[in-house]
Order: sequence, then C-alpha cells, then structure tokens
Amino acid sequence: MRVRVFRDAGHLAEAAAEEIAAWLRVAGEAPSVGLAGGTTPRRTYERLRHLSLPWDAVDVWLTDERFVPPGHPDRNDAMARRALFDSVPARFHPVPHLPGDPAGSAAAYEEDLAGFLPVGSAGLQAGLVLLGVGEDGHTASLFPGGRALEARHRGFVADEIPGKGGRLTATLPLLASARRTMFIVSGHHKAAIVAEILEGHPDLPAALVSERARDPVWLLDREAATGLHLD
Ligand code: 6PG
Repeated sequence: MRVRVFRDAGHLAEAAAEEIAAWLRVAGEAPSVGLAGGTTPRRTYERLRHLSLPWDAVDVWLTDERFVPPGHPDRNDAMARRALFDSVPARFHPVPHLPGDPAGSAAAYEEDLAGFLPVGSAGLQAGLVLLGVGEDGHTASLFPGGRALEARHRGFVADEIPGKGGRLTATLPLLASARRTMFIVSGHHKAAIVAEILEGHPDLPAALVSERARDPVWLLDREAATGLHLD
C-alpha cells in the first residue's frame, strides 16, 4: 500500500490526475475506470480534461450511484459528466434507473459491467477504481452496518441507507478485484476517519476494501493526513 500526502487540495487533485493518467497510459487493452462519486474527485476529473489520454479506448463506470432518476442533481454521473466525461470520448456507462426497482437497477448495471469488465473465477474484475471515504468510513455506498457490505456473490447491489436514501453500489468483491485502487481524500474533517482506517479500525468499509485491494494507494492532502503517524 502506498500513502502519498500533498500540501493542499489543489496539489492532491493534480497528483491524482497524474496517477490516473499514468495508469491509463500503461493499462494495456480495454482499460476501465470505476469512478468515485461525492464531491472530492471533481477537481481531479476537471484536471484530467487538460491531459492528453486515450479516452476512446476507456470504459468508465460508477462505483456507486444514488437511487434517483437521471438528471437529478444528486447523481454521481451528473458530477462526473460535467467535470470531464461530457468533454472526452470515453465509453461512459451510467447506472440505469428502473423506477421503484433499486434491486433491478443494480442487477441491470451488473449485466452492463459484464459487457466490458473481464470475468474471472471470482467474478467481475475491475481495472482502476477511484474511491472516496465518508466520515463514517464508508466507501462507494458500502456503509457500516449496511446490507450491501455483506454481499459476496454479486458485483453490484442496492441498499437503503438511513438518512441517505436508496443507493446502488459496487460490492466488496468487485472493489477488491481492482488492479489498482486509488483513495482520494481531502480535508481536516476526514483526518480522524483516515487515521482510524489506516491505523486502527479494520472493520470499516474503506478499511475492508483497502486491505483486500491488490494495489491500493491513498492520496491525501495534509489536512486529511494530520491523524497519521507518518515516519
Ligand atoms: C457518494 C460517494 C461516496 C463518497 C464519500 C465521500 O456517492 O457520495 O461515492 O462514497 O465518495 O461519501 O464524499 P465526499 O468526497 O463528498 O466527501
């Protein structure tokens, strides 16, 4: 596992974009990128607009989505499209929304994913996965105590999160299958949970993903890293 700390959110976004670009340049044929939602990665996606990359060969998918209809401002795909993917020729795969049927929407997306992610003995295999972390240690929409966190035989499932509504999310097995897993975390309000995940509480969803990841890297700004005992 690599941990890289940058002086501020701007330098973090620039470094994250460079790491993504470096991975895409050597990823081989049919690279795929699973996107983090939320707000942190927006600056990284915007930074990627200025880099020359072979987007026309890249499949881009969402590691989670809110169970709200297309066009709703809370959707993660809306943020990603505005920031980058309306501007580059990547094959962008939004999560389908079947009204009133979150489980069916998740199952439909898993079928979409099987159309471009390799399928191995352990199921779908992701390429590069980008993830954020919530202050409760959730990542994608795998929340502490959530049913989705328990899924072991599916790649994408629905969950109902108290106070957050319906969510559709990649499961622990799918996230752990990634060839590279990149956590991008910024801000002092994340310092405590980052320290918990990296130096303490192994059962938090983001810790479970990081421990199972084949090649995890944590990209932090100084504020998010203040709780770590880095030598
Ligand atoms: C979502 C995200 C979620 C996010 C964290 C951090 O749908 O909200 O996928 O896992 O990455 O909640 O969000 P911020 O980057 O906004 O702090």
